[in-house]
This record gives sequence, structure tokens and C-alpha cells, in this order.
Amino acid sequence: MTEAGVGLEKLLEQVRAGGGVPRHIAIIMDGNGRWAGERALPRFMGHRQGMKSVRRVVTGSLELGVEHLTLYAFSKENWSRPPEEIGALMRLLSEYVERDKEELAEKGVRVRVIGDRSSLSPAALRAVESIEGTTAAGGTLALNLAISYGSRDEILGAARILAGRCLAGEMALDDISETSFASALYTAGSPDPDLLIRTSGEMRVSNFLLWQIAYSEILVTPVLWPDFGERDLYEAALEYQRRERRFGRVTR
Ligand code: IPE
Ligand code: IPE
Ligand code: MG
Repeated sequence: MTEAGVGLEKLLEQVRAGGGVPRHIAIIMDGNGRWAGERALPRFMGHRQGMKSVRRVVTGSLELGVEHLTLYAFSKENWSRPPEEIGALMRLLSEYVERDKEELAEKGVRVRVIGDRSSLSPAALRAVESIEGTTAAGGTLALNLAISYGSRDEILGAARILAGRCLAGEMALDDISETSFASALYTAGSPDPDLLIRTSGEMRVSNFLLWQIAYSEILVTPVLWPDFGERDLYEAALEYQRRERRFGRVTR
């Protein structure tokens, strides 16, 4: 990218001066396994390193003034990975929560875990409830952590919620709107992502936020997640500022 030689602070200034910082950034954090493989390390080490990138993007988002950050940490489909890898990922989650929850709370970050909690182990569920409880009062950055998350699953859940309300006579069929549907999704309360980033070069969405990304700008970077840092986030924000969002309109 063209900003490669620019210092981090300068880059941050450039983004701030550019105006139009994305309100909501969503990230598919991919490439941990390849990062480890390139170094002949076990996959787990890639996930451990990836946790540091999570810290960096949270810091970078706070610096930028991003209001919502949604991170895809573990998909429904990831349950089909070897049990040792799943175990390691869940332990990393607990470790992250224990290490960072107080600091996140101090910085005004409010964490919400989105996904199917019923499939989490008791220890993982405790970690989820603990970080949500500790950070509940945060008002600076809303951090959605997608864990055991599947977008089709989320959409079906919303359909069931609304159908249930209709059957119970609490709402009419005509009340099923984009707004009421969105408010039955896990992401209720967050605006749709302005920018969706996927690391490691894969050009797919892997069952992430299918409803919510209808008009998101998409950025795929070859950088592997464990190598992703503030600089990459700021460069992504600059790229976002260069995009012309049309929402179907004719603009010139
Ligand atoms: C992303 O890295 C982390 C999770 C999906 C949990 P991967 O583990 O998918 O890494 P690659 O894609 O194999 O490199
Ligand atoms: C998507 O990455 C899920 C997360 C980043 C948590 P995957 O590595 O699981 O996606 P695929 O299998 O390459 O599509
Ligand atoms: Mg992957």
C-alpha cells in the first residue's frame, strides 16, 4: 500500500483528517493456521499470536473512534475442527477474558458475545458471561465477539422469534419489516457494518453477517491475521475513505 513508509501517528492523523471513519468495522480474522505453518509451529501458536492482533485492532479502533467492532472468532462450522484445536481456542478465549476484561472495561469497551451459546462448554460460557458482565457499562466502543456464530443460524433464529410473536398475537405479519427483523438478530442495536475486512486473502464470507453486510464495503487483505495490526487497520480505513458508496443510486 502507498502509506507503507508513513509513521503510525501520521497515518492516524491522515485517517482522522480524511473524515468518514467507518462507524462499524467487521473483521473475518483468518490465516492463523497458515501463519503458524509458515513457521513450522503448531496451529495453536497461530491462534495465540492472533490474540495479540485482537488487542491491536481494539486499540486502533479506540484511537480511530470506531463505535462498533465485530470480530469473527469462531464459526459454527469451526466445530468440525479437531477437538484439540477447538479446546485450545476455547482456552484462549478464557485467557483473553481473564487478562483483558478489566482493561477493556476501563477503556469503555462493552463486549457482547454473539453466536450459539448453547454449544459452548461451561468454562467458555463462564468466560463469556464474565466479560459481558465486567464490561457492561462501557459506552465508547461496542465490541461484538462472534463465537460459535453462523449467520444462517442467526437468520433462522430471528425468523423463529418473529413467527413466535405472530403466533402469540403480539405482532401482525405486516409488522415483519427490515427493522423488526434486524432487531431479532444477535447484532440488534449495532448499525450494519460499513466496512468488512477479511485477512489472509480468502474471497468469501464464510457464513458471517449475511444480512448485515448487504451494503458493506469489502476489503480483502493478504495479511495473515497474526500479522495484522493498527497500521493495517488505519490503511483499511483510508481505503474505505477512497470508496464511493452508492447504495444503488446514480451519483454522477
Ligand atoms: C482463523 O484462522 C481462526 C479461526 C477460524 C478460528 P484459521 O485457523 O482458519 O487459519 P487458516 O485459514 O487455516 O490459515
Ligand atoms: C472463517 O474462517 C471463520 C473465522 C474466521 C472465525 P475459516 O477459516 O473457518 O473459513 P473457511 O473455512 O476458510 O471458509
Ligand atoms: Mg481459515
